[in-house]
Amino acid sequence: MCGIVGSLGSFNAKEVVLKGLERLEYRGYDSAGLALLQENKITVFKDTGRVKNLISITPEVESHIGIGHTRWATHGKVTQSNSHPHYSMNERFILVHNGVIENSRELKESRLSAYNFRTETDSEVVAYLIEYYFNKYNNVNDAIRKTMSLIDGSYALVIIDTEDHHKLYAAKNKSPLLVGVSAEGYIVGSDIMPLLDHCKQFIPLEDGSLVEMGMNGDFSIAIYDVIGKERDYELHDIVVNTSDIGKGAYEHYMLKEIDEQASVVRRIISEYFKDDKLVLDDKVQKVFDGRDRIYILAAGTSAHAGYVAKGYFEKIAGIPTEVHISSEFIYNTPALTQNPLFIYISQSGETADSRACLVKTKEMGYPSLTITNVATSTLARESDAYVDIFAGPEIAVASTKAYVASLSVLLILANYFGKSDMNLKQELSKAAGIMDDIINKKEVVNKLAKEMLTKRNAFFIGRGFDYYIAMEAALKLKEISYIQAEGFAAGELKHGTIALIEEDTPVSAIITNKEINLNTRSNLSEVESRGAKTMVISMKSLSRPSDQIIIDDVDPMVAPMVAIIPCQLLAYYGAIIQGNDVDKPRNLAKSVTVE
Ligand code: G6P
Repeated sequence: MCGIVGSLGSFNAKEVVLKGLERLEYRGYDSAGLALLQENKITVFKDTGRVKNLISITPEVESHIGIGHTRWATHGKVTQSNSHPHYSMNERFILVHNGVIENSRELKESRLSAYNFRTETDSEVVAYLIEYYFNKYNNVNDAIRKTMSLIDGSYALVIIDTEDHHKLYAAKNKSPLLVGVSAEGYIVGSDIMPLLDHCKQFIPLEDGSLVEMGMNGDFSIAIYDVIGKERDYELHDIVVNTSDIGKGAYEHYMLKEIDEQASVVRRIISEYFKDDKLVLDDKVQKVFDGRDRIYILAAGTSAHAGYVAKGYFEKIAGIPTEVHISSEFIYNTPALTQNPLFIYISQSGETADSRACLVKTKEMGYPSLTITNVATSTLARESDAYVDIFAGPEIAVASTKAYVASLSVLLILANYFGKSDMNLKQELSKAAGIMDDIINKKEVVNKLAKEMLTKRNAFFIGRGFDYYIAMEAALKLKEISYIQAEGFAAGELKHGTIALIEEDTPVSAIITNKEINLNTRSNLSEVESRGAKTMVISMKSLSRPSDQIIIDDVDPMVAPMVAIIPCQLLAYYGAIIQGNDVDKPRNLAKSVTVE
């Protein structure tokens, strides 16, 4: 969701910004733009559509300064004028913004009523305020900080002063922003991706920071709080490799990432097992001490991992666990126990709804643990402890390997704090082997997708863990194939939803649990009798010859990680059949940085 790049240094800003924007495409966007120095004047190029359009309208320029943006519309339609960068009223300042300025309308009316606005965006108000206060104070730093003190909401900003081409300014509150540092200059980015080619180190920014970068003779950087006091900062090493973010021989990132799942599970085993013994950070031990209930907070696919994890923590570790969707929890906080532990699951570590909950639960004084794929993310940095899921960069918007990796790590956690008869290391390696087998037979799923996905809707059913897999399977299908799909508790279908079943409605059942497999089979017969076209994904020992996908037996706790894979492939092939953009589905963003 909205990507930002800023570049100041001896590298070619046009290349850094355009490549950076391409690397941020995965976050989701609908327009793109940039500002570069052209014949001693900062010039803006922008349009709706993909970065490749922007590349085609950007002339060949050698610029040492540049800012760029991919916009995911929140305020104002998807139009060229609403795309970023935006000018201030007299074009003294140009900026790009990610986030939402909640009081933009009030600020327009109270302080900027004398001016005409060119766009419908909240971001433009920030540019105008900066120039308005610059005209009063005659100091850019003061003007930006004054603006920061007035705006409510979230922002990551990169700002150019058109009268000083050797300075670049960045400001951050709630929305993610990092500054890459190299001997050649600075690159600002919404995440680490745009930094990779030039920087080996970066500075994560705290909320309420203003960064002033300069290249007058020597390179210089200083970070201030809103009051103007200089802040200390730490340089962190960048550990992501550019080779991890390529598509290789794959047509789509999603298929590559589905294929990588077995190796991700093997990596997790090697990271967390030392001589067959589970090893976790002391900080993780500490947050669990004396806790009487776990509250898992997450969104989307991560919330689906949370539902399975509830079973892990309750069944294996005996800790009562609740799962809440972050966007609901923040405003409808339930009654809490005396000693809760908050576990945040987030592949990006940036989801604004989850971040808002973390701020709230920290204010309430409760310990927090984040399970994430991005060690440098806001949630990882700000919670008391974090556990890495080691999935490697996930570029496709539809999350696949991060889901399986989160489940593996959550199962490890439950086993670490509880007791189970299973040999976890062995079961996880077995699961990795079975994942490879399923992936090697992906053509079977491709064929099934053609047979099954012929309608505008589809249902997935299951009980227990299989119900949670059904929910995730449905989410995958709707995200990328745009088929209206729902995951249901198999027994609940007859209490209303069965009315939707008609001739050839696709219904897929997931059957991995011995105790309840026959009940799910009965529910399947109920829909078959009403004309549904059915498909069964079952565990070998519970299978019937007519089942379409049969998976080798694994421990029921590990089953969700394996059984989801044919569902991910079904969604993938479903999207191909529809001719959709698999990796960048319409309207969706990978990193949802607004509430
Ligand atoms: C977005 C993504 C989903 C993801 C959800 C939560 O909606 O498109 O794939 O599951 O955010 O993201 P998180 O990074 O917190 O797991």
